[in-house]
Amino acid sequence: MKKIIAVDGPAGAGKSTVSKIVAARLGYTYIDTGAMYRAVALKVLQSGKPAEDVIQDIDIKLDEAAQVFLEGVEVTKDIRTPEVSRGASDVAKFGFVRQKLTELQRAMATQGKVIMDGRDIGTQVLPNADLKIFLTATVEERARRRFVELKEKGFAANFDQIKKEITLRDKQDSEREIAPLAQAQDAVLLDSTSLTIEQVVAEILRLAQG
Ligand code: DC
Repeated sequence: MKKIIAVDGPAGAGKSTVSKIVAARLGYTYIDTGAMYRAVALKVLQSGKPAEDVIQDIDIKLDEAAQVFLEGVEVTKDIRTPEVSRGASDVAKFGFVRQKLTELQRAMATQGKVIMDGRDIGTQVLPNADLKIFLTATVEERARRRFVELKEKGFAANFDQIKKEITLRDKQDSEREIAPLAQAQDAVLLDSTSLTIEQVVAEILRLAQG
């Protein structure tokens, strides 16, 4: 069984949904690195201070239930707003932010039995991961999923607006200079456009057992 699994891909490809299920099935810890970038962005927004200051002594914790704590306060829902999504993509460009979070992420993976998702896990954070997955889907499909999710939660949602925001985040995340979103050479490409969640989970479990 592969001990360390890295899952990368663009926003809305389903990384966290499938990673959580795979973690539960294997008894592994799920680590959502996007949540860590979001926590940095939330602290910048809340404090009004620049990312350089905020990152120095930031306290970010993820628990077994994938709850997120910033300075000891639970912020799991607060980091999911569109404002924080944009902010996370912005702070993720800074080398000093990436360096600090990469250190924390590596420390979290040392004991093994983890599945970590993000943008640079297979390429930078855990280049020696036992299994690397690059999970994609077309921008239309990712926007559609997000649209349905928001509707189901009772939020007002505009498909074109969502698609625009996802396209912008894809561009920012793939074109930044430091650790851009990229498929590692030894990653398995999974296109989830016409696959169900269960099909993606089954494929990752199959690869994990190989
Ligand atoms: O996966 P997410 O949408 O929660 O991630 C939020 C932002 O954080 C995303 O736009 C890019 C950034 N990110 C990153 O640069 N590296 C990671 N390993 C994870 C996320």
